[in-house]
Amino acid sequence: LNKKTDFQLFGIFGHPLAHTLSPAMQEAGFAAAGIKAYYLVFDFDLSQFKQSMKGLHQFPLQGFNLTVPYKQTIAPFLDELSAEAKAVGAVNTVFRKGKKWIGTNTDVFGFQVSLKKDGKFQPRGKKALVIGAGGAARAVVYGLCEEEIKILTISNRHKDRAQKMILEFRKKFPRVQFEIIPFENAHLKHALQRSDLVVNATSVGLKPNEKLFSASLIPKRSQKNILFVDLIYRPAETPFLKAAKEKGQKTLNGIGMLLYQGARAFEIWTSKKAPVDVMRKALFLSSKSAGANL
Ligand SMILES: NC(=O)c1ccc[n+]([C@@H]2O[C@H](COP(=O)([O-])OP(=O)(O)OC[C@H]3O[C@@H](n4cnc5c(N)ncnc54)[C@H](OP(=O)(O)O)[C@@H]3O)[C@@H](O)[C@H]2O)c1
Repeated sequence: LNKKTDFQLFGIFGHPLAHTLSPAMQEAGFAAAGIKAYYLVFDFDLSQFKQSMKGLHQFPLQGFNLTVPYKQTIAPFLDELSAEAKAVGAVNTVFRKGKKWIGTNTDVFGFQVSLKKDGKFQPRGKKALVIGAGGAARAVVYGLCEEEIKILTISNRHKDRAQKMILEFRKKFPRVQFEIIPFENAHLKHALQRSDLVVNATSVGLKPNEKLFSASLIPKRSQKNILFVDLIYRPAETPFLKAAKEKGQKTLNGIGMLLYQGARAFEIWTSKKAPVDVMRKALFLSSKSAGANL
């Protein structure tokens, strides 16, 4: 490819990537915005990934996304990182600024918009329980802190990972009250009863019938009104969300986060307003054809 082409190229790097929904979403967005562009899938193993990143400055791409397992691996290959990418410790979107390649994290924005718009939840002054301490949990925690959550309780299977995360975020957000609880039923039950928002930011629920904790821990809506969010979108309803729904609680899956992080990346790359409704429709259609049953 050379500079004479009349189209732009974008893409996603990850492994495995067989079922990614991003190409359908982004290409529908480009078409609706009148942009001639393609979004390619680079399902690369680690050595292929590193090799291609070494050639970043000759890349024909205008920008790209990263997903599991390369959100951290990418950092040393980039010229700059945004404040979000630094704080979260993960890059999911890369764009050009002059001759430089900049890494940012649009998962934070995706989570915030999904929560406020689709979940109709305003975090300011509220209490949240976040389960998990991986890359996605860090984006959620950063997003909630930026939105001025009051109390943030973290529970993770490996407690040391949660402790490390909180040490970093405490310095950045001194007004947020952080606490860590063991990933055990009695502690979770207590935390659930006093939370306005509960987020599953673990990968538990990706496999069929995989339970994060017993449904009996969840209070009925008449006792406590809680919004349950799962970052997982395939399946559309995890046992975690199903159990919450059965208790009459409001639920939200991760499809909105996927949509809005993609829309934000689109806007960074093209400087145009993302056609969000078109992108949402493409996402739903492609997830249905991939058997996601959304
Ligand atoms: N909707 C979206 O746009 C979006 C974006 C990003 C991620 N996600 C989803 O978010 C989830 C997490 O992704 P990630 O990138 O944060 O992954 P990650 O960095 O690998 O972290 C995985 C997390 O899951 C926990 N975990 C794994 N197996 C567990 C088990 N059996 N019991 C209890 N906890 C367990 C881990 O706990 P330990 O630390 O104790 O191992 C860790 O907190 C994935 O399902 C991913 O699909 C969605």
